Amino acid sequence: MLRLRDLLLRWLLVPTLLLWAGAFVFGYLHSLDQAHAAFDRTLLGSAMVLAESVRLQDKDVVAEVPVAALEMLRTDAHDRVFYRIADAGSGAPITGYADLPAPPPGLAALPAFFDADYKGQRVRVASLQHMVLAGAERRELLVQVAETLDARHQLTNRLVLRSTAVQLSLIALSAGLITFGVRRGLSPLKRLHDEVKSRDPADLEPMDTRTVPREVVPLIDAINAHTERQRQLAEAQVRFVANASHQLKTPLTVLRAQVGEALQQNDVEAMRAIVARMDGTTEATGRLVGQLLALARSEPDRPLDARDLDLAELVQQATFEQVSAARARGIDLGFEGAGPLPLRGEALLLRELVTNLVHNAVTYTPAGGHVTVSVGRIEGGVRLRVVDDGPGIPAEERERVFERFQRLDGSGAAGSGLGLAIVKEICARHGAEVLLSDPPQGGRGLCVDVRFAARAGG
Ligand SMILES: Nc1ncnc2c1ncn2[C@@H]1O[C@H](COP(=O)(O)OP(=O)(O)OP(=O)(O)O)[C@@H](O)[C@H]1O
Ligand SMILES: [Mg+2]
Repeated sequence: MLRLRDLLLRWLLVPTLLLWAGAFVFGYLHSLDQAHAAFDRTLLGSAMVLAESVRLQDKDVVAEVPVAALEMLRTDAHDRVFYRIADAGSGAPITGYADLPAPPPGLAALPAFFDADYKGQRVRVASLQHMVLAGAERRELLVQVAETLDARHQLTNRLVLRSTAVQLSLIALSAGLITFGVRRGLSPLKRLHDEVKSRDPADLEPMDTRTVPREVVPLIDAINAHTERQRQLAEAQVRFVANASHQLKTPLTVLRAQVGEALQQNDVEAMRAIVARMDGTTEATGRLVGQLLALARSEPDRPLDARDLDLAELVQQATFEQVSAARARGIDLGFEGAGPLPLRGEALLLRELVTNLVHNAVTYTPAGGHVTVSVGRIEGGVRLRVVDDGPGIPAEERERVFERFQRLDGSGAAGSGLGLAIVKEICARHGAEVLLSDPPQGGRGLCVDVRFAARAGG
């Protein structure tokens, strides 16, 4: 995994080192240039001294070169100095080292400098033109002084060594400072890491953002928000378990009372009537356990066992399972629509959804009422609709009834308030939406719509 420290070091150190290297090369080349210019000026000075020592004697050029002067002009004890005086026009040598190379033809106006090979060594040559006058006589002369390059090489070597040493120490120093700075700068993160690590697993309190760097605050805020959701979830779970146990206890208490009552009966018919009630209580308890299991199964962190299925077939089956219960209550339960209506989802959960909606409609609609279950296509998906002509749910209660254990006052029938909560969670797992409204044909009652997107839950 990428470490922030390495990332920072990489982005600080590499560019800094490249900059240093660039500055080093540039500085080195610049000082080399300056050193060469200084040597060249000295060399030209020698040529001028030489030129000044030339006079005309009976048309002949006489150079009284002061050897000591040339000696003095030598920049280094090891360097050798050569000179040459020639006629500027014809190029014929007059005195000095006759074979010293003349300036290359293309060279700019004199005085000029150029490099050449002489006596097996590399030399630097300074040339200038000088005019000597004696009475009416005048001669244009080319004066050249050359020197070997030992002194220059020594100087450049010294320059390289010295600046390399200085630059390397500076680079090492700045690398050290950058590393130290990065480490210091990241120390609040390390503190934060230690704090989080040493936390009690049950501690879901938000972390203090006052002691962390400002850039990290959004991260801590996000973690705190996540922890807060976690805390709420844990609380909701505890509440749910408490409520569920309570809900389970009630029918068991009723059952025990019924058993006690039955045991006291001597008359078989009376006992039969009580056992029939016990049967109803047991069935209701079984339904409650089924609902609790369905809730657990629709938890968001449980993977969905999604398959391709036909909504029409599934809804028709689930509806027919409740036909006899509806008939017993004097309700006319009908199904409309034809398949196939392709849908991807978990059949067990979807059947639970339909069962809860149909059960509600059949339960809360008074005898003589009508319940119609229908399926069909809608734009971009498929739809399930359950319409009844019962009492309906007032608009202001249509949100609350989806919460767990919430029932409307005066519902009459027995129930635990889990049905619609289950419907909502199963919808959420399948990316579907559920909507309560007034019946489309008008009048009293309730219309429940569930809309699935084409490949919902896939
Ligand atoms: N079709 C309906 N007509 C009128 N009221 C309804 C209808 N469906 C639900 N309700 C109201 O909404 C409440 C919540 O319904 P929900 O299915 O969640 O719980 P329940 O039916 O009371 O209990 P459970 O389904 O867990 O046995 C019900 O108590 C009832 O008051
Ligand atoms: Mg219900």
